[in-house]
Amino acid sequence: MKNSGAKVRAVAAEIVDAVLNGGRSLDATVAEHEVRVASRDRALLRMLCFGALRQHWRLNAYIQQLLGKPLRKRDAIINSLLAIGLYQLVDMRIPDHAVLSETVEAARLLRRPKLAGLVNACLRRFTRENMAAALPEDDEAKWNHPIWLTEAIRKDWPDDWQAILQANNERAPMCLRVNSARGTASDYLARLRAAGIEASDMTGIPDAVVLSEPQSVENLPGFIDGDVSVQDGAAQIAARWLLHDRLAGAPVHRVLDACSAPGGKSGHLAEVGGDRIALCSVDNDVARLERVAENLHRLGADATIIAADASNPEEWWDGEAFDSILLDAPCSASGVIRRHPDIKLLRRESDLARLASLQTALLTALWGLLAPGGVLLYVTCSVFAVENDGVLGPFLNDHDDASENDVLPNNNIRDLMRRKACGYQILPGTAGLDGFYYAALQKKKVS
Ligand SMILES: C[S@@+](CC[C@H](N)C(=O)[O-])C[C@H]1O[C@@H](n2cnc3c(N)ncnc32)[C@H](O)[C@@H]1O
Repeated sequence: MKNSGAKVRAVAAEIVDAVLNGGRSLDATVAEHEVRVASRDRALLRMLCFGALRQHWRLNAYIQQLLGKPLRKRDAIINSLLAIGLYQLVDMRIPDHAVLSETVEAARLLRRPKLAGLVNACLRRFTRENMAAALPEDDEAKWNHPIWLTEAIRKDWPDDWQAILQANNERAPMCLRVNSARGTASDYLARLRAAGIEASDMTGIPDAVVLSEPQSVENLPGFIDGDVSVQDGAAQIAARWLLHDRLAGAPVHRVLDACSAPGGKSGHLAEVGGDRIALCSVDNDVARLERVAENLHRLGADATIIAADASNPEEWWDGEAFDSILLDAPCSASGVIRRHPDIKLLRRESDLARLASLQTALLTALWGLLAPGGVLLYVTCSVFAVENDGVLGPFLNDHDDASENDVLPNNNIRDLMRRKACGYQILPGTAGLDGFYYAALQKKKVS
């Protein structure tokens, strides 16, 4: 297609603008707009949007320097286009002349022909003066995070905050979960090798395989048949932890995945538990629940799927206790910023207290559904104590029938995790993993 390079950059600028100025989620906006570009350009489109937003504060500091005075509000999209242009110059291996010509042409496609000259002048000056070499002075640009988020991370992790911020600013590797009902990670590594795809395994996370370079899922052997799924290694700890050593007793182990959409952990529970478990997947987001059904269907797995508010069991629970419960609670997602850079823009400090009370409400309601002797695994992808041991500590104080069960699914994962007052934290970037918090609570047996 003529001008396809400029088209990708123009669509990328529209997506970035929708996140920056429309408060839209990046994943949803990319999914909506990517059909506008040729399929061969979609990987580039994602790279441009995710990269420009991941580096937002750093690029914004350059843009302010280059523009001198701000653009008119109705031309704000040109800020996003400049961010796309600068991101290519700073972090991508695209020749400067191609970046300049395609980005300038994109200004015309965005119906701002009078600003094409300005875009050209800014990008030329940036390369000519080697502006990328100068270190940013203000903290927002330097750490590339909003100040409140930097301070909140620094407060909770006084020795690790810089490493966490750095990990948040990097691209996450593509990690796969091999369907253990069909084969082992080492079997799958051999299949990848045969397909010419480089990958390695992960110590302590038996079903995980990390790709050296991201791939489109269509290129992955057996993806369509459910032999493999895309899931970060840290998220893969949940199913094996919850079911570890616990499937020998009851003929069928009743498992609840209480906040299950889009179904990553439900799929893993089904693979590990097979026909020894009866899985119930609940979520209150009907659209996201469709993804649970699709994912389980691809894996050839079965579950009872229920659209409901998990914190209100009277609405949906059949009254029969669960042997195991996974509560993968809604959270700030501050541990997965590298995969969802728009979190840095969309999340507010005031969200944390609201989320903590939702997490407490879910935990308290679901505790009543757990059989004596059963285990509830509480999980978040947050690095903040207020959503993690800050929820679990008071809960344990208030519930005499609850205690922490700190038996880990294997000893190697201990090295990946920080012990908290209650539970364990994986920090983002540790061994290439996303940031996750895990705590297993056991219900006392009735004597
Ligand atoms: C962290 S995500 C779950 C990810 C999922 N476990 C996976 O592995 O794919 C949290 C989920 O909680 C759901 N949620 C939020 N509040 C809920 C509630 N009151 N009842 C049930 N689900 C809820 C959200 O819709 C979201 O899908």
